Amino acid sequence: MQIGMLFETVWCCFYLFICLVLLKAMAGFMSHIMGGAVTFEPSQMVLTAGATPAIETLCFCLADQGNAFLVPTPYYPGFDRDVKFRTGVELIPVHCRSTDNFALSITALDQAFNQTRKHGTKIRGILLSNPANPVGNLLSREMLYAILDFVREKNIHVISDEIFAGSMYGNEEFVSMAEVLDSEGFDKNRVHIVYGLSKDLSLPGFRVGVIYSFNENVLAAARKLTRFSSVSAPTQRLLVSMLSDARFIEEYIKTNKRRLQNMHALFVAGLKGLNIRCADSSAGLYCWADMSKLVSSYSEKGELELWDKLLNVGKINVTPGSACHCIEPGWFRCCFTTLAEEDIPVVLERIRKAVENTTDLLNSS
Ligand SMILES: *[C@@H]1O[C@H](CO)[C@@H](O)[C@H](O)[C@H]1NC(C)=O
Repeated sequence: MQIGMLFETVWCCFYLFICLVLLKAMAGFMSHIMGGAVTFEPSQMVLTAGATPAIETLCFCLADQGNAFLVPTPYYPGFDRDVKFRTGVELIPVHCRSTDNFALSITALDQAFNQTRKHGTKIRGILLSNPANPVGNLLSREMLYAILDFVREKNIHVISDEIFAGSMYGNEEFVSMAEVLDSEGFDKNRVHIVYGLSKDLSLPGFRVGVIYSFNENVLAAARKLTRFSSVSAPTQRLLVSMLSDARFIEEYIKTNKRRLQNMHALFVAGLKGLNIRCADSSAGLYCWADMSKLVSSYSEKGELELWDKLLNVGKINVTPGSACHCIEPGWFRCCFTTLAEEDIPVVLERIRKAVENTTDLLNSS
């Protein structure tokens, strides 16, 4: 055997071993942050270089070019890139509205499903983010049941992106799709969960994501595809040490939650002082703020003008609702976790200044 080949073989064995250890550690961590109500099986997990390739890989596995996924709006702008760019798969928006605090309804799903099919496009599944990005609300246990009934009836799949599961600040209970499946006799083959460490462990640059699926065919295909988006061995080693340190993880989760709660409460109260309301939310690193009273015209154009003013006058970088395919203009996602507590008054003052000429601000509605 040549030295090069021997090295390759030894290296592969080492890499596989580290993978298995990390999968076990990840499964434990995921179970921990989801409240211990569900156990994750390492053999049903596939590691990817972040949640982005996890979503794309699932799209490659589940859909052909020209097929579509239903996605409730407003949705994370990155889904357009993750789902559509390289796969040729389409996203069909299912519009949720402020009057329901942007909650999903089965009727809206059904309507979008019917309409899309009428146009001859094949729907392969539903793509959900729970806790939702950008709104920060949760899917209730009842809604998860209804979604599972819906996908069985339509013979489609569901991808549940649960990357913010450990970033809860509300008192509501987060229920993972995996937990619901554990307890009921649903068809597990249709359910695929995406997770990653970029949000809950604040490690976006490490590029660590997971596909958790109950479908052997999907797992087999995904394992082959992740050859193109593997997690480096040094990263894996570091994570194994980190995730295996039970005391650190315990402490981290507690501290993280306390800081999220604190920043969320302060920031939302501050916006309220400017007469800007946020949607009710329970999780995430952001709030979903209604600035529709501040737009010059109730349209996407008006929204983008306000966004431009916030950015270039206020030096505040927020995400406009139109980027999230929100059907109602004037909503913005504001991330508050990059701020220190003492930054909040500065940010609020900048927002106030940027929209100074807008008469409605500070007036009660
Ligand atoms: C969608 O189509 C099905 C079957 O034709 C029908 O029963 C259902 O009422 C439709 N849903 C909506 C919301 O229009």
